[in-house]
Amino acid sequence: MSPFRDDLFAGKTAFIAGGTSGINLGIAIRLAELGARVAVCGRDGGKAQRAAETIGHGALGLSTDVRDYDRTRGAMVQAHEAFGPFNIVISGAAGNFLAPATDMSANAFSTVVDIDLNGTFNVFRGCRDLLDAPGASLIAITAGQAVNAMALQSHACAAKAGINQLVRVLALEWGPDVRVNGISPGPIADTEGMKRLAPDPATRAAHEARIAMKRWGTAHDVAECAVFLCSEAACYVTGTILDCDGGSQVGDASRMDTARGLA
Ligand code: NAP
Ligand code: COA
Repeated sequence: MSPFRDDLFAGKTAFIAGGTSGINLGIAIRLAELGARVAVCGRDGGKAQRAAETIGHGALGLSTDVRDYDRTRGAMVQAHEAFGPFNIVISGAAGNFLAPATDMSANAFSTVVDIDLNGTFNVFRGCRDLLDAPGASLIAITAGQAVNAMALQSHACAAKAGINQLVRVLALEWGPDVRVNGISPGPIADTEGMKRLAPDPATRAAHEARIAMKRWGTAHDVAECAVFLCSEAACYVTGTILDCDGGSQVGDASRMDTARGLA
């Protein structure tokens, strides 16, 4: 049962880059349920259109590649014309694949950095004068790769680490009228990300055993964290990265299974 009021975001506007599937779509759906007018974007215009229909509540589906500043700014201007100044902006577009650095071309590495890190700069820089400030809330979707080095993930680790620092710098530069935070999801079920990173049931089971909460998260779990960060309850929270990961990053909880006689 959610603790949030049904009309929490009535009259508010949200722009969600990469909000056309997975975790970010879950956030978009939740913000719209709570009354926000929501615009989502991704590269595939048809997918964005379908996402808007899924979100309902008059949501807008737009097409852009966050690597392209001008196109992304154009999408934001379109959303601004339709809905007015943004109270909430989420930067969640990302790309990932498993590969050792020696199997990555320079273009493979820079493609992920360009989508995740440069894309987040483009989204945040591009929306700055379209915000309803003071009071606007910006959220970057980062990942545990930002702080935990992971083999086969040099591109994503570098990109997400950069995002965490970008969040902190923009919090300093854009306070007091704009709050800038990150959410770092743990493994989230039924997402493209986990299809790529843990494709088989055995890997998933091994992951789950290590998590304090003993399960993968849901898009709804992450959406509730986004709702908190965008609400007045978080009015003194900026420059932080909120882990929504069931304790994944704290450490390995599987030893407790041995102690409990479960493993
Ligand atoms: P997803 O379903 O693949 O979502 C990615 C979104 O970004 C889609 O809307 C996609 O639409 C869009 N996108 C990709 N490249 C883009 C580009 N160049 N320009 C504009 N839009 C682009 O992924 P997900 O697994 O839900 O992950 C969502 C976010 O959570 C990512 O930031 C990811 O790093 C983070 N995260 C995920 C997990 C997890 O368990 N899945 C864990 C930690 C962090 P198009 O394909 O149409 O462009
Ligand atoms: N191993 C090594 N290199 C890979 C690779 C892999 N598994 N997948 C892609 N690449 C390389 C390509 O070969 C190319 O390099 P090259 O030009 O030197 O050959 C480079 O990465 C870019 O690939 P391309 O397919 O042209 O990029 P794109 O912009 O069309 O797609 C990706 C971006 C590669 C990140 C793609 O996986 C994607 O669109 N991802 C979005 C969805 C996603 O990843 N969701 C999970 C989010 S956590």
